[in-house]
Amino acid sequence: MDVSADYLKILASPVDGKPLKVEDGVLKSAGGGTQYPEIQGIPWIYSDPIAALNEWKSRTQQTLLQMQSQFYAAAHALEQNPPNLFPTTRRRLEILCNAYKHNIQATQRILSDFSISSESDLVPEYKTLSEKLPGSQRIDSYSTNLFRDWAWEGNENQKHFEQIKKVLPNNMAGKNIVVLGAGSCRLALDIHLHTNPKWTLAVDINPYLLLAAKKILEGEEIHLYDFPLAPFQIGDVCPYHECKSNTKKPENFHYLFADGMNPPFQAKSIDCVITPWFIDIVPQTLGPLTRKINNILKEDGVWINFGPLGFNSPDPTRNLCIQEIEEIMQDSGFTLEVDQIDEVPYLQTPHSGQKRTEKVYSFQAKRTKSVKSPPRFTYLPEWILNPSLPIPKSTKVEEHRFRNQVYFEVLKSINGEYSINDLELMIQQHYKMTEEQAKVALYSFFIQFYEAR
Ligand SMILES: C[S@@+](CC[C@H](N)C(=O)[O-])C[C@H]1O[C@@H](n2cnc3c(N)ncnc32)[C@H](O)[C@@H]1O
Repeated sequence: MDVSADYLKILASPVDGKPLKVEDGVLKSAGGGTQYPEIQGIPWIYSDPIAALNEWKSRTQQTLLQMQSQFYAAAHALEQNPPNLFPTTRRRLEILCNAYKHNIQATQRILSDFSISSESDLVPEYKTLSEKLPGSQRIDSYSTNLFRDWAWEGNENQKHFEQIKKVLPNNMAGKNIVVLGAGSCRLALDIHLHTNPKWTLAVDINPYLLLAAKKILEGEEIHLYDFPLAPFQIGDVCPYHECKSNTKKPENFHYLFADGMNPPFQAKSIDCVITPWFIDIVPQTLGPLTRKINNILKEDGVWINFGPLGFNSPDPTRNLCIQEIEEIMQDSGFTLEVDQIDEVPYLQTPHSGQKRTEKVYSFQAKRTKSVKSPPRFTYLPEWILNPSLPIPKSTKVEEHRFRNQVYFEVLKSINGEYSINDLELMIQQHYKMTEEQAKVALYSFFIQFYEAR
């Protein structure tokens, strides 16, 4: 970590918002109680940095285990060598085995700081609750972005940049930019090179993407296989990619590991916050996130958004359309300056039979009023974080209770002899169900059971 870097002066504790200090080359909270580690020179600023580190170690392990089980499935199919294995199927399994093996090693190398020497090094889940993230944020959730950003030919990056460029402020000289959810950093870098600000900070929670981007922008080549959806030809099954950049990292382009839902910056310290493909994938409601962005922006600061509106929350109030976003902006101290809707290609690998196009909403909103910053966001609810609180009752609990009792009974009864018809009679009598209810419960259970095999 370059302790003289300008951006360090505006960092703040995600717990109390107080400025951090650098002591003996180490970033610490104002009182010195919390030390923030650095990973390959990138500061790691979380409310509980050790819990966050353990959480990502566990996610790294899960991804590696999944890759290993994919490798074993292909290797096992080859070993079995069934007589009906066609030559091309054999070839496909061989190249898949080779690709999985290679990717496991390459991933371990990128994530060397998150490796564990044995299963017992993994910290149990209950010790990382305060930094828990949705299951959708896996190490490899956005691994294709790495190829799009740094390997594929084609102009997808260019097209994204052309759209966001239309809503970027004109003069960023002497100003700073924070990109929340920068991923593998291509768009953040393109914006930086175009606007030429004082400095840009690319923020993400996912160590795989940020560390890979760092290596690539230091001039390294990262070689990985991709596994595109719906490949057509044998050569499309797992194409080999060389992720590299012709541009080296500019000195004033920096990285930060932090949670963009609790951005660790001092109040009124940032000129421009950018949220590319971010607002709809985080579990925080947009209102509080917008007020947090308001809080860290300078008085005349701007918020730039770019991305789809793919909100997909079980809470219907959170699945917003443009008009609702405009109302939230206004309520959170922003004035909409300019906005637009465009269609852009999305992760269109030449090796897939599928091509996705996304409608994206871009805007520039100016901070015109101060609003109160909401409390720290946690993904898990209070009654899980604080074990002394009562667990709330709900109809969901009742549903789960009934379903699980039935399933427990079904599982207990499987002895290698009973058929579905036998079990149907049993649970009908035991739970006073109609024949139809018993059939619904049993078939739904067994199909799920089969699919999870
Ligand atoms: C859809 S990807 C977009 C990546 C990049 N902005 C782009 O345009 O290619 C979403 C990114 O947000 C990151 N992310 C998700 N939750 C985050 C959080 N709470 N704080 C910071 N980054 C987060 C993910 O790791 C991922 O890199």
